[in-house]
Order: sequence, then C-alpha cells, then structure tokens
Amino acid sequence: MKFGVIGYGYWGPNIVRNLASLEDTEVVAIADISPLARGRAQKAYPNVQVTADVAEVISSTEIDAIAVVSPVWTHFELTKKALEHGKHVFVEKPFTSTAAQAEELIDLALQKKLKIMVDHTFLFTGAVKKIHQLLQEGTLGKLYYYDSTRVNLGLFQHDVNVLWDLAPHDLSIVDYLIHATPEAVVATGASHLNDHEDVAFMTLYFPDKVIAHINVNWLSPVKVRTTLIGGEKRMLVWNDLSADEKLKVYDRGVQIDSQQGVYDLLVNYRSGDMWAPQLERGEALTRELQYFVDCISNGQDPFNDGSAGLRVVRMLEAASESLSKRGDLVYL
Ligand SMILES: NC(=O)c1ccc[n+]([C@@H]2O[C@H](COP(=O)([O-])OP(=O)(O)OC[C@H]3O[C@@H](n4cnc5c(N)ncnc54)[C@H](O)[C@@H]3O)[C@@H](O)[C@H]2O)c1
Repeated sequence: MKFGVIGYGYWGPNIVRNLASLEDTEVVAIADISPLARGRAQKAYPNVQVTADVAEVISSTEIDAIAVVSPVWTHFELTKKALEHGKHVFVEKPFTSTAAQAEELIDLALQKKLKIMVDHTFLFTGAVKKIHQLLQEGTLGKLYYYDSTRVNLGLFQHDVNVLWDLAPHDLSIVDYLIHATPEAVVATGASHLNDHEDVAFMTLYFPDKVIAHINVNWLSPVKVRTTLIGGEKRMLVWNDLSADEKLKVYDRGVQIDSQQGVYDLLVNYRSGDMWAPQLERGEALTRELQYFVDCISNGQDPFNDGSAGLRVVRMLEAASESLSKRGDLVYL
C-alpha cells in the first residue's frame, strides 16, 4: 500500500517512520509547505519524493492512502480533497474543527467506499488496552469516574487551544471505555498569553452517574500524565510516564453496609492488594497503522473511524461553548 504523508512537523516524522517500518507499505511522497520541514524529510528519506505541492501528492494515481498530519484547521480541506481523489485517509486528532465538517467527510467516505481512520493513538497503547480489558471483564466493577491530568510546559499550538490539543486523547479514551454519549459537559479555562486557553478543566456527565474530569495545561512546570479510574470493585492509577508499572490496580473500595438514616451510615473501607499488570509492549502507532492497512485490505471499518472522530469533536464543541460562558452546563 502506497502512502503520501502531508505535514512533517513534530508528529509527521513518527507517522513516516512507522509506515516505513511496516511490511507491505511504502511512503512514496511527503508534502509540507515549510522548506525547513522538507529539508528534514529529504535528509531522513533521500529516496522519497519530498515536495511543497500538496495537490500533486493528493492527486497522484500511484498513491492509495494519505496521512494528514498537519494542523487541525487544515484537516477538513485536505481530507476532503484526498477522498475526492479516491484515497483512504489516516487523519490526525482532532478529526476536524467542527462536527458539521466531520459529518460531511463521513458521508463522502461512505459514498466513495473509502476508509477514514482518526489517529486516536492512545487506544493502541498497552495501558489503554489493559484498562479496557479490566472494565470489560468486570475486574473494576461498575465504573464510577475517570480523572485525568495531562499537563506540561508547551508545546503551544497556534490554531487551537489546550482543550482541542490535549483533551482529544482523553476524550477518545473515555469514548472507548465508557461506550456512551455524555449527557452534558462543563468546561472552564483561561488564556494568559494569546487568545487561546492555555489552562482548562473539563467535566463530562455520562449516564448512570459516570463522571469524567480532564485537566489540561500548557503552563505546568512539570509534565504529568496521570489518570485515576475508580470502579465499584477496584481502582487504578495509570502513570503514563512511568517506565515500568505504568498501571497499578488497587483492590480498594468503599462499601455501605447499612443506611438507616444519615447518622447510622456504616461505611466499610476495603484495603487489599495492589498489582501492576503486564502490558503489551511495542509502539502504539505501529499497531494502529498496521490496523489501518488491514482494515483497508479486509474492507473492515476501524473502531477509530470518522464516527469516533466525530464523537470527540462533538464533545470538544460542547466544551468550547461552555468555556465561552465560563462553565455553563452544555447538553449534548
Ligand atoms: N496522535 C498524537 O499523539 C499526536 C501528537 C502530536 C500531534 N498530533 C496532531 O498532529 C497534527 C500536527 O501536529 P504537529 O504537532 O506535528 O504540528 P506542527 O506544527 O509541528 O507540524 C505541522 C506541519 O504541517 C505543515 N503544514 C501546515 N499546513 C500545511 C498544509 N496546508 N499543507 C502541508 N503541510 C502543512 C507545517 O509546515 C508543519 O511542518 C495535529 O493535528 C496534532 O493534533 C497528534
């Protein structure tokens, strides 16, 4: 399968490297409007065509699929053109800038019988796969909450705020783990350096009292990637920066034994063992791109398809509306 990659900034090189490492895939062209980026690409891949002419790559009859790895505001136009030229598309998160754009692309892909995969990389990590398994098999019990802290200093994006940049990771995970549409969203935040919020907090209310909270920040002195997930039976801590033991599952919980009036509430705290499950190794992006190629070959719809991308964009749109009203509850 022959790929054209558009955008060779921070994330593009990871896409090219992984595509180049797969059997039966080949990167035949890389397009970027920046001469600096083109210089880096040509040096790393002397045998690949590197060009400023994005249209030429998108219309090339030699190419089967396009990877869109450019800024968010370009995703819609580039994906649309690629689909119109009969290419399957692997597009970065967040899928589009608006839900209406995402819906249009989903329809177009359906019409053209082409696949869209949105790069929700975290769904292919050993940690998220294990958390999904622990929830599915009932080890955690009924899910109570998902609480994530995803903060660091920069990298400032120029076209989107910190919510649109960092929260898609958690929103795609929450969508995958909870399998439900949130009932309402609340978001607050502030911008200190330009018009884009650099600190933001988002709360999602799901049916059945499941709540998710996401803290994203470009102005943190330290990098933190820690998520707490609480279930009725067990709870876990996922520290994505830990070299080993990223995931720790605690056999801890609370049980109400009797409830005959407020003062008689008998609360039992359970404090059992902690264990760190073995996680699948290897790079998530390798697995994800292989899955994209397999889906195209088998005519299968990926679970992180355009619709998954759309669900994340809907949550982001609701969050933006709430953010602009200083935390008003926005129903989805
Ligand atoms: N999945 C992940 O974990 C992950 C991580 C980082 C970034 N991303 C996503 O990847 C995308 C790119 O982010 P980045 O951090 O690499 O940004 P970046 O600014 O570092 O790189 C973007 C590149 O695209 C080029 N570009 C801009 N407009 C273009 C156009 N119209 N045609 C061709 N090239 C164009 C720029 O010159 C630049 O080299 C974003 O959507 C971002 O959200 C995903």
